[in-house]
Amino acid sequence: MYRNFKIVPNIIFGRGAFNQLDDILQTRRPGKDAYMVFVIDDVFTGKPLEGRLPLKGRDLLLRVNVDDEPKTSYIDALVAQIRAYHSETPAGIVGIGGGSAMDIAKAVSLMLNNPGSSADYQGWDLINNPAVYHVAVPTLAGTGAEISRTAILTGPVKKLGINSDYTLFDQILLDPELLAGVPKDQWFYTGMDCYIHDVESLAGTFINEFSKAYGEKSLELCRQVFLEDHPDKDDKLMMASYFGGMSIAYSQVGACHALSYGLSYVLGIHHGIGCCIAFDYLDEIYPAGVAEFRQMMARHDISLPRNLTRDLGQAAMEKMVTTALGLVPLWENCLGPDWAGIMTRERTMELYRRM
Ligand SMILES: NC(=O)c1ccc[n+]([C@@H]2O[C@H](COP(=O)([O-])OP(=O)(O)OC[C@H]3O[C@@H](n4cnc5c(N)ncnc54)[C@H](O)[C@@H]3O)[C@@H](O)[C@H]2O)c1
Ligand SMILES: [Fe+2]
Repeated sequence: MYRNFKIVPNIIFGRGAFNQLDDILQTRRPGKDAYMVFVIDDVFTGKPLEGRLPLKGRDLLLRVNVDDEPKTSYIDALVAQIRAYHSETPAGIVGIGGGSAMDIAKAVSLMLNNPGSSADYQGWDLINNPAVYHVAVPTLAGTGAEISRTAILTGPVKKLGINSDYTLFDQILLDPELLAGVPKDQWFYTGMDCYIHDVESLAGTFINEFSKAYGEKSLELCRQVFLEDHPDKDDKLMMASYFGGMSIAYSQVGACHALSYGLSYVLGIHHGIGCCIAFDYLDEIYPAGVAEFRQMMARHDISLPRNLTRDLGQAAMEKMVTTALGLVPLWENCLGPDWAGIMTRERTMELYRRM
C-alpha cells in the first residue's frame, strides 16, 4: 500500500515575503471580533521582527520559550492561556521561530479543537478534529518542520510527535531574510539536520524516485551552502530544508536520528546538535556523508561537545539504547529488515559510550 501524501497547500517564498503576512491573514479574519494568536520565539522579544508583526484588534501575542524542546505540559498550558483569554477560538495561529516554535504552533492549533491533553495524541493519526488555521514563519532552516505532518513533543512517558494530516500547516511563509541573525553554531546544527535528512533518506532502503528527487536537490543545495560561498545562501538553505523534509516524508530518516532521540530523551540534547554528535560516530554506516560532514565542520570551525556519556550510570545508558532501538522504522530504513541482528544492544551501547 502506498501512502496518500498530504502536503502544505499554500507557500510563499522570497526575500521580504514577511511583509505580505498581513494580507495573507486578512483573508482569514472572518469579522472584526476575530483574533489571531502569534506564537513567537522569545528570542525576538524587543527585536525589530516583533515590531513588524501585523497585530490587529484583539490579536494575542504569545512569546514562547524554547530553551527546552517543547513539552506536552507546555502545550497544555498555552492552550489554557488562549482559552482564558477569549471564549471564542482564534481564527488562526501564526508560529514564528525555529522547529520548536513551529511545533508549538502546530500542537496548539490542534489542541484548541481536540479535547484532553496533548500527551493523549502523541502517536500516529490519533487526532479526530481538524486544527485551527495555522501558519509557519521559519526563522531557522533545516528541520523541515515547516512541511512535516508531525509536531514533536516530549511527554511524561515518551518523546513522540503528534503525527496527522491535520498537523500540516495551512500556509508557510519562507522569507530568507529572517535567517540573518542566527548565531553561527545554531545555523550550522540546524542546517546539518537537513543535510543528515538527505543522507539518511538517500542511503536508506526505503528510497524511491519521489524521495530521491527531493533529497538529491536538497543535498546539492546543502553543499552550496556549507562548502561554497554564495550571497544567497540563506535562500538556498531555506529551500534545502523544505526539500529535505519532502524527501523524508516519503521515505524515512535513519541511524543518526534514532541515536539522537536517545541523546535527547536522556540528556535533553537539542535535535540539531544531537544529530551532529551522533553522525560523527557513524563512519561505518554513512562513510561518504560523514566525511563530507567533517569537511563542513572544519570549514565553519565547529567543534562538537565530547564525552557526554562519561558520567552516565548503567540505567541511563540502557534507557538511551532502548529509546534509540525503539525507533524501528528508522533502523529498518537504514539497515533493512534484518536490522536487529546488525544493530544489537551491545553495538548501540558501544556507540553511545564513545560519544
Ligand atoms: N516537526 C518536525 O518535523 C521536526 C523535525 C525536526 C526537528 N523538530 C523539532 O525542532 C526543534 C529544533 O528546531 P531548530 O533546530 O530549528 O531549533 P529551535 O527552534 O529549537 O531553536 C534553537 C535556538 O535558536 C534560536 N533561534 C531561532 N531562530 C532564531 C533567529 N532567527 N535568530 C537567533 N536565534 C534564533 C531559538 O531561540 C533557540 O534558542 C526540536 O524541538 C525538534 O524536536 C521538528
Ligand atoms: Fe531531523
